[in-house]
Parts: sequence; structure tokens; C-alpha cells
Amino acid sequence: MKFFIDTANLEDIRKAYKIGVLSGVTTNPSLVAKEGIKFEDRIAEICQVVPEVESVSAEVTPDAVTADEMIAQAEELIKINGGDEKVTIKLPMTLAGLESCRYLAKKGVKTNVTLIFTVNQALLAARAGATYVSPFLGRLDDISEDGVQLVEKISKLFRIHNFDTQIIAASVRHPDHVTRVAMAGSHIATIPYSVIEQLSKHPLTDQGIEKFTTDWEKAPKY
Ligand code: E4P
Repeated sequence: MKFFIDTANLEDIRKAYKIGVLSGVTTNPSLVAKEGIKFEDRIAEICQVVPEVESVSAEVTPDAVTADEMIAQAEELIKINGGDEKVTIKLPMTLAGLESCRYLAKKGVKTNVTLIFTVNQALLAARAGATYVSPFLGRLDDISEDGVQLVEKISKLFRIHNFDTQIIAASVRHPDHVTRVAMAGSHIATIPYSVIEQLSKHPLTDQGIEKFTTDWEKAPKY
């Protein structure tokens, strides 16, 4: 399973990229709004900060409701950073989003259909030619449904029908989500920087390092 980072914060993206485990970046209108910078400018900056990833998701804005409006925005977004092929158009899971997805897929533009909450929505998006689908597991857990189970079902469906569409497990809140979606067959998990940090930690690792340090201080030096 690959890791994408779910943020529009450049510092967090830089830190994650430096570790060397990052394959992509996802943003959404809420994440970009928090940064207080023009959307297109931030996407261009992100593309420059992570030259060697497969995808940077740029979501059409919520005021684009019809397929024509979404496609018009997408046509501008794909020009960012000199037509950077990483730019992936993130589209809402609506009929207009699906129509836009099919149009863009035919043109060879990468797409990410977002706000997926059912297997049927994932199936529709895959049939529309989506490069990625983003099931939001944390938001399902929030309403007492099982987000990981949804990822597991979509993964099974895509395998049975040989879809190339990749699953991005989104709305990931903690390390156990990451383990479980990896085991459920998700291709990708998009996670905040805080969760990437948490994944690397274990108290026995810290204790082990402390013990090696104190023992090493006592060792004879030649
Ligand atoms: C994914 O693409 C979304 O940006 C994100 O994972 C949503 O997460 P949230 O439910 O924590 O807002």
C-alpha cells in the first residue's frame, strides 16, 4: 500500500517527502481554505515540492455543479506547473462528477472521484474511468458504520472485475485505520502528517534507543 499525504500545508508535505515514503498528495476545499492562499498557486507550489510522486489531487471547487463547470475548471487546473501530469482532478461523487470523470479520462487526465460512501458509488466511478476512488472511512465510522469494511468490499469488487482504478482510503484518523485498510487491500492511504509520525513510533523503540545510548556511553572507546 502506498502513502499519500492529506494536506495543503507545504511544511507538512516537505517533511513527509523528505522521509521518502510519499507517493502523492491529496487536497480538498476545506484543507486549502485553512492555508489562506489562492488554490491554484498552492497546487503549483505542491507540485514543485514533490517532483517525484504519481499524483497531486486538485479538487474542483464546490461552486462547480454541472459537468461543463467542472470540466472548465479541470481544463485550467491541468495547465498548472506547465501541464504537470501529476495533477489529478478530484471530482465529487455526483452524476455531473461522473460525466466529467468520463470526459477527462478519455483525454488521458488523471481523476480522483471523492466522497465515496458505498460500493455502488465506487463501481460507478470505476466504470466512468476514474484513476482513483476515495472512500471516506473516518466519516463512516463517525456515524457508526464500518469504514474499513467498505474499503474491503471495494477492493474485492475491483479484483473480481479487474478494474485498474486504485482505492485511496481517505478520512484516515489513526494508525489502526492504516493497518486495517492495508490488510483490506487498499492501494493507497491518504493520511495527515501527524498520522505518518504516529506510524513510526513505538515506546519499546524509544526505550531500545535509550538503552543502546546509555550502554554505548559505557563501552570502551579505542
Ligand atoms: C481525502 O481526499 C480527504 O481530503 C480527506 O481524507 C477527508 O478527511 P476528513 O474526513 O478527516 O475531513
